[in-house]
Amino acid sequence: MTAPRPAASPRLAERPARTFDVARIREDFPILKQQVHGKPLVYLDNAATSQKPQVVIDTLVRYLTTINANVHRGIHYLSARATDEFEGARAKVRLFLNAAEDREIIFVRGATEGINLVAHSYGRQHIGPGDEVVISHMEHHSNIVPWQMLCQERSAKLRVIPINDAGELLLDEYEKLLNPRTKLVSIVHVSNSLGTVNPIEGIIAAAHSRGIPVLVDGAQAVPHMAVDVRKMGCDFYVFSGHKVFGPTGIGVVYGRAELLEAMPPYQGGGDMIRSVTFEKTTYNSLPYKFEAGTPDVSGAIGLGAAIDYVTALGLDRITAYEHELLDYGARRLAAIDGLQIIGTAKDKASILSFVLEGVHPHDIGTILDGEGIAIRTGHHCTQPLMDRFGVPATARASLAFYNTREEIDALAQGMQRVIEVLK
Ligand SMILES: Cc1ncc(COP(=O)(O)O)c(C=O)c1O
Repeated sequence: MTAPRPAASPRLAERPARTFDVARIREDFPILKQQVHGKPLVYLDNAATSQKPQVVIDTLVRYLTTINANVHRGIHYLSARATDEFEGARAKVRLFLNAAEDREIIFVRGATEGINLVAHSYGRQHIGPGDEVVISHMEHHSNIVPWQMLCQERSAKLRVIPINDAGELLLDEYEKLLNPRTKLVSIVHVSNSLGTVNPIEGIIAAAHSRGIPVLVDGAQAVPHMAVDVRKMGCDFYVFSGHKVFGPTGIGVVYGRAELLEAMPPYQGGGDMIRSVTFEKTTYNSLPYKFEAGTPDVSGAIGLGAAIDYVTALGLDRITAYEHELLDYGARRLAAIDGLQIIGTAKDKASILSFVLEGVHPHDIGTILDGEGIAIRTGHHCTQPLMDRFGVPATARASLAFYNTREEIDALAQGMQRVIEVLK
């Protein structure tokens, strides 16, 4: 059964129903209205971080001006309200992911901290000498390094699913990697450098048929598509608030309650305990067992507002609109002489990574910046992936639902300027 989605925010609910009115949507994002270097800002760095709608900004201001207090510990009015809103945000995340219970939602700093939590807690408990952890060639460093550190510490082995030239996982090779020593598969849902959408349900089913749990790094998935952790069947799912139009400093680990219950705490401190003596500490129940210290209360509440916002827009409509924009962008860029798109998987989300013959990506980024166009250049925290494609870096335009065809045109024109200046 699919849990009901949170109610639409009033601002969006008042709008005429089903059209995807991008001009109207852009009005909700004050930052997009500015000029950069005397040119209208074209923000195409959404995979690094997304912009915030006014409703998120207003929610943070309202919280900090009328509610701000510490949660869970106080009996006074403000503390009770802060706690209600903080726990309300947890319920919104639960509905957003269609998790079964609020206690399966743990607030952390972001996807990076979420993966580290699972590596330190579940990993140290279950992974020992000779065991194996399976990741893929397209992982972000945050889904490589924590497992590498764990494997070093536990004398375990990191195994890597290879990819093809389009940037798709070789699923036959994946199945061959799974064996009785495999203790965990940790895999990205959508690649931040290629845009590849991995066939996550099949990946999970193959692991589960051998009794292996799966962590999914959803950092680049949740801004672009509806995610249902129960339908997917994953054991852990992590994402960052700032990539889904919420504040920085807040992120989420979803974990199946049965697994989380059996895992030791990641960090010790206030709020994660039931009782403390110098001899012994007993731990709090879920999710608090994994939330030591004062959490990012305003961040969580801001994330709740961002979730309301995208839910009201409709994740399915966002996916459809972005697909159209991505196709248009791919066509416009592919028509540029000497330009090669890196990442041409059949199933892709809104990422256009590319290289231009004879030009360093950093120079592309600098010239585009002069045109008011914000893209990212570099290895995008995926150095092994860059090595796989034989490039030191790419230029990456990453789209969100507030981007337009006109902005893609500006990017294509900006690339002509790059060619004029550098070639
Ligand atoms: C696929 C993927 N995973 C994990 C992360 C890490 O996210 P954060 O830096 O917000 O913890 C990112 C950030 O770019 C990402 O793209």
